[in-house]
Formats: sequence, C-alpha cells, structure tokens
Amino acid sequence: MQRLFLDNAAVHSLLAVTTDAALAAHGHVGRGDKIAVDGAAVQAMRTAFDRVDVAAVVVIGEGEKDEAPLLFAGERLGTGRGPALDVAVDPVDGTRLAAQNLPDAVAVLAVAPAGAFFDPGPVFYLEKLVTSGNAGRLSLSRPLTENLHELARALDKPLAEVRVAVQSRPRNQRYIDEATAVGARVLQFADGDVAVALRAARVDGDIDLLIGIGGSPEGVLTSAAVRAVNGHMEARLAPQHPAEIARARSAGLSTERILDLDDLIDGDGYFFLTAITDGDVLAGVSVVDSAGRGTTATTDSWVIDPHRGIRRFTLTRQRG
Ligand code: FBP
Repeated sequence: MQRLFLDNAAVHSLLAVTTDAALAAHGHVGRGDKIAVDGAAVQAMRTAFDRVDVAAVVVIGEGEKDEAPLLFAGERLGTGRGPALDVAVDPVDGTRLAAQNLPDAVAVLAVAPAGAFFDPGPVFYLEKLVTSGNAGRLSLSRPLTENLHELARALDKPLAEVRVAVQSRPRNQRYIDEATAVGARVLQFADGDVAVALRAARVDGDIDLLIGIGGSPEGVLTSAAVRAVNGHMEARLAPQHPAEIARARSAGLSTERILDLDDLIDGDGYFFLTAITDGDVLAGVSVVDSAGRGTTATTDSWVIDPHRGIRRFTLTRQRG
C-alpha cells in the first residue's frame, strides 16, 4: 500500500479547489440549470489547481476524454512541482439538487499516490455497500436480508431501527423491497450518493448502511473517505445496458468480482468535500452583503485523511 503525507500548505491549497468550486456553483443554485452549475464548478476547480504545487493527473474526471473540455481523464493539473498524485473529481455531486436548491449538493475531490485509484474504465455504474467500521463484515456476496440481520446484531439494535439508504432508481427497487420486507427503515434519496455514503461510513452517522447501484466515479471517490474514517466498503461493476456490458468485456473488466477497499484505493487518499447546499452537518455556501464593503462568502468543508481523520473547515472570505 502506498503511503502519502501532505503538509498543511498542500492540504489548504487542495481544499481551495473544492471551496472555489462550491462558490462558483453557488451562483447558479436554484436557477434550474444543472449544466451551468457543473460548468461553473469545473472551471473554478481547473483554475484553482493552477495554484497547487503538485504534479497531478486526473484519473476520475468529468467523462469521456473527447466529451469533456476540462478535467478529463489524463489531464495534467497543478504546477508540476511537488508530489506526483492521481486526482479523482466530482465538481458537483448532485447537480440537479444544486439547480433546484435542494439539500446535499457538494463539490468533491480526492487525491492519492499515482496508480492508487481503481479505474472503472468505460463502466459508469457500480454496486456499492458502505457501513461504518463497527457494523459487522457485510458483503455483496451475501443476500441483503442476511446482511441486515448481521448489521442489527453488530449494532445491537432491532432490525426495525436499522437505517438503510438506497438511491431511488428503478434499478435499486430490489434493495428497497428486500430491506422493507425484513422490517428495516429505508431512507430513499434522489441524488448525491457521495454525501450519503459518508453518513453511512461515520460511526456517528445517521445512516447504518448505503446499498445499491450508483455512479462509478462517485464510488471510487467515496472509497478515499471511507478508508480514511476506517469505514467498510465493497463494490462491484454494474453495467446497466448491453452496450455498457460489451464495453466492460472488451476492456477486460469483471462484473463478478467484488472489490474491497484495497482494490478501490491502494494507498492513502485525501478527500475534500465542500457543501454547496445544506447537508446533514455542513452548511451550504452563504454569501452576505456587507454594506458597501463587498460580500462575505462562507464555505463549510470536510478534509478527511488517514493521518488526521475528519477535520471541518468553516472559512470566510471577503470579496469585491
Ligand atoms: P451528478 O450530480 O454528477 O449528476 O450525480 C448525481 C448522482 O445522483 C450521483 O450521486 C450518483 O452516483 C449518480 O448520480 C447516479 O447516476 P444516475 O443519476 O444516472 O442514476
């Protein structure tokens, strides 16, 4: 496993990447245009990286190289001075949430030593299971019912009090049905599984299990945070239509293999998350006019790394 230790200056300049993205996205919150939300955040992240002393390469980016003008896989970021890092970004997880001014939209970045992140290649969907580290050894190799019984035992509470988060999509209906039949509490969410996975991975979180099929890039990013908080995660590539299955096959990717945390991130990862709209703990960006003296913008973020765990940064900047 590859070790990584970033000094405070590097951590703060990387944190500026997600705070700048959140501030830029904030200008478009509630305007109904998710493309504009994403575009502003992508541009801000790219610009912020120009001030970071790292030699970074995007491995999880905005999409296929030819379709994304910025932050595409293979793009080099940073000044080129400093550690060689791989970068996984999701400038806005929950673009629709931000466009509609709904909670839980976040800007996310993870970095790790070169070669550490799993590459889901052309497969856009991943089956994910995330719990805290003291919730038993749940596995995608077992039926959900069995996992839920194990979870209740490990957490020492009745099944009726076990809280399971599932993204509300037709492809996830089987998880919703099975968890409901067992008597667990199912919390469906519309979008933004990175923030929800973090709630499941934290021992003090308000969710006991995240299960279901969501985006692959979000899953790989999430693994950096789950590993750093000593949570538990498994994943399995889950292509959703014949063309995606064919692409997985020709890329030599297995859709059977269960990936554990060591497969998803083979090294120390640093994870940066800034709230765009309000979340379960973090407050969304707030911009306040300070009579004749421009505006004051406040961002609320988490930096999560294996050396110092979770740290919260509430930062205020004077603008204009
Ligand atoms: P975006 O904001 O980048 O569109 O992602 C939102 C999201 O809900 C992710 O959190 C999740 O992993 C993915 O979309 C699921 O994909 P889909 O919306 O195609 O079901």
